[in-house]
Amino acid sequence: MTKRFGDFVAVNDLSLDVQPGTCLGLLGPNGAGKTTLMRMITGQTGLNGGSISVLDFDIATQSREARAVLGVCPQQDNMDDQQTARENLALWAALCRVPRAQRKSAIAKALATAQLTERAGERVTNLSGGMRRRLLLGRAFINSPKLVLLDEPTVGLDPQVRSDLWLIIDAMRRSGVTVVMSTHYIEEAERLADDIAIVNHGRVIARGTPHQLRERYVGVEAVEYFGPPEVLDEIASKAADAGLKSRRAGLSISVLGVENTSVELLNSWGRLSRRPTNLEDVFVLLTGESLDG
Ligand SMILES: Nc1ncnc2c1ncn2[C@@H]1O[C@H](COP(=O)(O)OP(=O)(O)O)[C@@H](O)[C@H]1O
Ligand SMILES: [Mg+2]
Repeated sequence: MTKRFGDFVAVNDLSLDVQPGTCLGLLGPNGAGKTTLMRMITGQTGLNGGSISVLDFDIATQSREARAVLGVCPQQDNMDDQQTARENLALWAALCRVPRAQRKSAIAKALATAQLTERAGERVTNLSGGMRRRLLLGRAFINSPKLVLLDEPTVGLDPQVRSDLWLIIDAMRRSGVTVVMSTHYIEEAERLADDIAIVNHGRVIARGTPHQLRERYVGVEAVEYFGPPEVLDEIASKAADAGLKSRRAGLSISVLGVENTSVELLNSWGRLSRRPTNLEDVFVLLTGESLDG
């Protein structure tokens, strides 16, 4: 699929297959095209080329059927501030065409998912940022979707709130719902996604499980050195001479894929600390850019 805004190509001839029952993480920096892609899948944004099918429904001709099996947690909170949590869910249930007879139980279930049963009568404006996000997430499941799209579900939240949301997402994933989740948080992708598509400039530039991506591009172990820039420069060139990849981040340098490199050699370059490689290493190495822009 392709999406252009004027001359700008936001989604560039991108192909993606998602296996049912898995959680696919779309990992990419701001501006990569993640939200545009999500909006194309829901039919909110038209395509300039290509096609999308959701569980055998073609978005172009069967968007109503597709929407019935889709759940969506948008990046931008679009709830009505002045209405209560329960009222917002009721409105959403109606929009998603949840049959009238099932609405009450669907709303109760969404409130329980969001851990907001006690606060159901509270106006949304009085809820904390974390509670709002939980509500937005619970709302996405109100029509018992087969596939949910979560667009940066924890963006801008503090670590405690983020891990609360991860619990909810993880429970959903385990229940067999297919999840497509965009994020620019490495930890979020590593913890929740079975399968990762690294997205940059509207394209998928790498695909695999977190472990496969690390093994393929950066090896499994890294060592990190701290010091002034001159020292780090020197280590970079020694690493290159030894055939190792490295990447700089502020006051440190990480030398990647050192699992088969002699400890004596690595120690001779300075004081080091060992760590597993991560998806940030993969991203930086593939793009030369950083994930948080
Ligand atoms: N409606 C629009 N008009 C023009 N440009 C847009 C529009 N929506 C998104 N873009 C541009 O498309 C690119 C991808 O945006 P987006 O899909 O929001 O990325 P992400 O969600 O990965 O941060 C960005 O450069 C953004 O500015
Ligand atoms: Mg986005």
